[in-house]
Formats: sequence, structure tokens, C-alpha cells
Amino acid sequence: MTLTLLGLESSCDDTAAALVRRDAAGAGTVLSSVVQGQASLHAAFGGVVPEIAARAHAERLDHCVEQALDEAGLRLAGVDGIAVTSGPGLIGGVLSGVMCARGLAAATGLPLIGVNHLAGHALTPRLTDALAFPYMMLLVSGGHCQILIVHGPERFERLGGTIDDAPGEAFDKAARLLGLGQPGGPAIEAAARSGDPGRYPLPRPLLDRPGCDMSFSGLKTAILRARDRIVAAEGGLPRQAQADLAASFQAAVRDVLVEKTRRAMDVYLDLRPAAPALAVAGGVAANGAIREGLRALCDETVRFAAPPLALCTDNAAMIAFAGAERMAAGAPAGTDLTARPRWPLDAGAARMLGSGKRGAKA
Ligand code: KG4
Ligand code: ZN
Repeated sequence: MTLTLLGLESSCDDTAAALVRRDAAGAGTVLSSVVQGQASLHAAFGGVVPEIAARAHAERLDHCVEQALDEAGLRLAGVDGIAVTSGPGLIGGVLSGVMCARGLAAATGLPLIGVNHLAGHALTPRLTDALAFPYMMLLVSGGHCQILIVHGPERFERLGGTIDDAPGEAFDKAARLLGLGQPGGPAIEAAARSGDPGRYPLPRPLLDRPGCDMSFSGLKTAILRARDRIVAAEGGLPRQAQADLAASFQAAVRDVLVEKTRRAMDVYLDLRPAAPALAVAGGVAANGAIREGLRALCDETVRFAAPPLALCTDNAAMIAFAGAERMAAGAPAGTDLTARPRWPLDAGAARMLGSGKRGAKA
């Protein structure tokens, strides 16, 4: 059965609506995807302010839905269901989305599906690259860091994740310490191009321990110390030292992500998947050095999939598609649902300590 879903996303600082079609064979098409960022609203505060975010979502969601319907050339009458991020995330924003979706469902009688935001990210490679289950997934952004085996639309196995900061958050903080602009990831990557990654050796946290958990907050402290030593000796941070520190930091994050993913890959390949694949998503996946390090883990037997950035970062197409996957799998859809600030993808896995900039994640 072909399903066309409207998706809504408002769990952090992007207000988004999208229409996605999924055919009977499981292939997805993005009919429209509208994302309205809120960076300018939060810029003065150095982080996302939950109350400001929630109010902006409440004000903008209707408009995003109208625009998404217009761009897809559809009306609600041509839609089979409404999918909305119902957690995890900043509760005010999640509630704005859930209330909007409930209103639309009540007015139209359409089924309503609550989607886990992380499941949206984790199922995106099915939409963009038609990956078959089970595949491996590394989710790395400003708010997330998880290594997953995706067994099905509702079955995720978490092999590891960060115990403190998310990698994107670490890039942002490191950039601030080096006097580079925000967002920090692209700024560090640009500076690192003319830097020597071996000049200031930084730690590779948790690499000496077994398992796939990661830690990035110590790297931030290490870069702060290295910077202060240089400033004390030189009376400032020379451009070359800034580039060398950026390159050293990027190499440290890459080494940790690549090595932990390599370990997870061993666990995954033991399952003897029919069509092995590793997918990456999240803003940090835009980093060329990290992407190439991960790609090198794959060979002619393991496929590497990196969805286009617009579908890797927060968007509503992933929520609409995840809703369609669940509907196709027979998930019950009602007209009622609640918002959940915490919602681990893998309830059986040990709780992660990391929170990320979006507040408690899982
Ligand atoms: O997925 P994303 O857009 O959204 C949130 O997490 O909200 O990820 C944003 C994060 C930021 O922390 C940014 O610094 C990081 O992804 N990022 C990068 C690069 N581009 C964006 N990190 C490293 N290298 C990049 N080229
Ligand atoms: Zn996200």
C-alpha cells in the first residue's frame, strides 16, 4: 500500500513540516520538506532557550504545514496520516508539535503517529539509500552520538554512545576556545586544512577501554590547557598554532569515532547481515576527515551510506517517513498521544549519561 504522510518536527530549534510518500515496496519520496531554523532567536544566549524555542514552534508550525502542503501540491484530504516527533527533546517544543498534530488529526480524522526523533534519524538511510535491515548507523550531531544496529522500524540496538558531550557540541566548544566562529564544526574543519594534526597530541578518550562508549568532554579541557600554554608562551594564539590545534582536535574526534565504529562493526558483522551497510547521519557527518575515516571501514562487501546533509540534520521528512514505516508495519495509530522528554531508542540498553545541547536525550 502506498502511504503519504505529513510529518512535523519541533524537538529542538528547527520548526519543520514535510510530506513523504512511501510505496508498497518501501521506497520513499520526499514531496516537500520545509525547515525553519531559529538560530537568530537564540544567538544572543549562547544556546537554545527552551521557552523561546517552544513559543516560536507554536507560532510557526501552522505556516510550515501550509507551505509543505503547497510545495507538494497536496491538501490534507490527500494525506493518509500525520506523524509527529513526540520525543525525546525539549519538552515545550515537543508539546507544540504534538498539540498541532492532535489538532490536525481531530479536524480531519486522520490517524496520528508519534515518532521518536532518534528513530527518524536512524531510519533516514532507508528513505535516501533504500538500505535493507539490519544496517549499522552512526548518529553524530550537536545533540546526538549513538552507534546503533537498526533491525526494523521499531527495533534498535544501541551498541554505544557518548557518556558526556555530543561530538558536534565538542566541535562548537573547541571552536569557541580557539577564537573561531560558530557553528564550530565547519570552522574547525576549515582551520584544520592548514594545520598539523601531530603538533599538539590530544588524548583519545576511552579508546583504552573495551566497548563502544565515547567521551568528548575531556578533549575540550585538553584543548583549553594546550591553548593556555601557547598563549602564556607566545603572548597570544598565533594563526599557525590555531590551525594546528584545530587539526589535532579534529583528528582526535575522528580517531575516537572511527575506532568505536570499527568495534561496533565487528559485532554487527557477526550477525551475518544479508546486505551489510554502515550509514552516518547528523551534522558532524558533514566533516570530510570523519566521513573518509568511516568510509575506509567499508569495503566492497560493506556499503557506506551518507544521506544528503539536508536529510541528515533535523527535518520533518525523516519523521514522516518513520511514521510511514511504522504504519506499514501495522503500528497502531490513534488520535491521541503524549509528549516524552526522554525516550531511549533501545530501552534494554544501559542509560546514557550524556545530555547534549538539547537537554536529556535518552
Ligand atoms: O545535526 P545538526 O545540524 O543539528 C543539531 O545537532 O542540532 O548538527 C549540528 C552540529 C553542530 O554542532 C556543528 O558544529 C556540527 O554539527 N557540524 C560539524 C560540521 N558541520 C556541522 N562538525 C564537524 N565538521 C563539520 N564540517
Ligand atoms: Zn536530531
